Amino acid sequence: MKPVKIGILGLGTVGCGTINVLARNGQEIARRAGREIKIVQASARDLKKKRPCPTEGIRLVADPFEIVRNAEVEVVVELIGGYDPARSLVLEAIANGKHVITANKALIAVHGNEIFAAAQKRGVMVAFEAAVAGGIPIIKTMREGLTGNRIEWLAGIINGTSNFILTEMRDRGRDFAAVLAEAQRLGYAEADPAFDVDGIDAAHKLTILAAIAFGIPLQFKQAYIEGISRITRADVQYAEELGYRIKQLAIARRTDGGVELRVHPTLIPQRRIVANVDGVMNAVLVKGDAVGPVLLYGAGAGAEPTASAVVADLVDVVRTLTVDPTNRVPHLAFQPDALSDLPILPMERVETSYYLRLHALDRPGVLADITRILGDLGISIEAILQKEPAEGENVVPIIILTHRVVERNMNEAISRIEQLASIKGSVARIRLEHLNRDWK
Ligand code: HSE
Repeated sequence: MKPVKIGILGLGTVGCGTINVLARNGQEIARRAGREIKIVQASARDLKKKRPCPTEGIRLVADPFEIVRNAEVEVVVELIGGYDPARSLVLEAIANGKHVITANKALIAVHGNEIFAAAQKRGVMVAFEAAVAGGIPIIKTMREGLTGNRIEWLAGIINGTSNFILTEMRDRGRDFAAVLAEAQRLGYAEADPAFDVDGIDAAHKLTILAAIAFGIPLQFKQAYIEGISRITRADVQYAEELGYRIKQLAIARRTDGGVELRVHPTLIPQRRIVANVDGVMNAVLVKGDAVGPVLLYGAGAGAEPTASAVVADLVDVVRTLTVDPTNRVPHLAFQPDALSDLPILPMERVETSYYLRLHALDRPGVLADITRILGDLGISIEAILQKEPAEGENVVPIIILTHRVVERNMNEAISRIEQLASIKGSVARIRLEHLNRDWK
């Protein structure tokens, strides 16, 4: 059989990682795919740059549109990232009858509905395993391995940069800004690191996972997104004292009223395995009604871990080149005409537990005022911790953990507490999830 001819758009970290993996494991990969996979063309901004991968035999071009218009190329691998020109390139590749593989989470989360519709019409595949959690095969697991299940919820640490920052703050007491600068130096962070610390990158990935989990369209704009920049070292320490870790979690959960789609810092009990996923590592916990909780853990970024996912998609595409397009695994797991219109739940209607940190004057009756407000709004307290005032000060930090309550009530409680004359400054709030196996 003739080799399958591939064109790569973008020869950065992942592009080079893909070339290296194919060069090293090519024979074994061909035995799995049934055909040799040959990279014939690749685009790069700087053609003269020295790269840590062999490019002999690959035609290098500066203009990626040359590749999507090249009749010889059967499969296009998009590794440029960002919304544009990636969107135009992918749509043109599809229009030209090429299968597409992409690691671009932003592109799929925001333009995926349009891209999949175009691919469906043209009878080509768009594979995107590398877009979520790097080398972890989470798309394949959910789309194929768990198809017998009704997925109830999933919770993931899917931004390595945020996890690295929170881990370093906890373990070494380092400052946010210094750790972020290191994450950038090590190449973990996005081109614009605000995507990492503000939760946007995790929300892109969560949008994709939720669509596959529940058979809903991609709805990035409906996601609730909160970053990690308001987390202080004191919060990290108080959480530890109470038996919790703070993690930047991406949560999608099916409820009677709609789908929760939220990214925010979250306290998790220390004994949970996900609470111990540290540094740049990623993990996704998926709860299916039949299988129970399934946990996948691995490298969420980096040249070869991401290349591992790209090459797995290449093998999938090559294997299905001869299959009737209507019988392929659907892009988003569910048949395109069988998507559900389950709405996304506004954050105000989400139910969760809370960690509150407030600063109160050290005088009688303060705690009574706070607990009365919480009680009036049906908020039950799970634990309270009052710290000593700092030397020479009469303001004490109070930490409260609550049971589950709808966010709307907690917003009201926080607003009333902040109006008390005995409370100084604003109340810090971090959501808390126990991630029990019986959580539905
Ligand atoms: N900036 C991303 C992260 C890279 O930190 O997880 C992988 O998508």
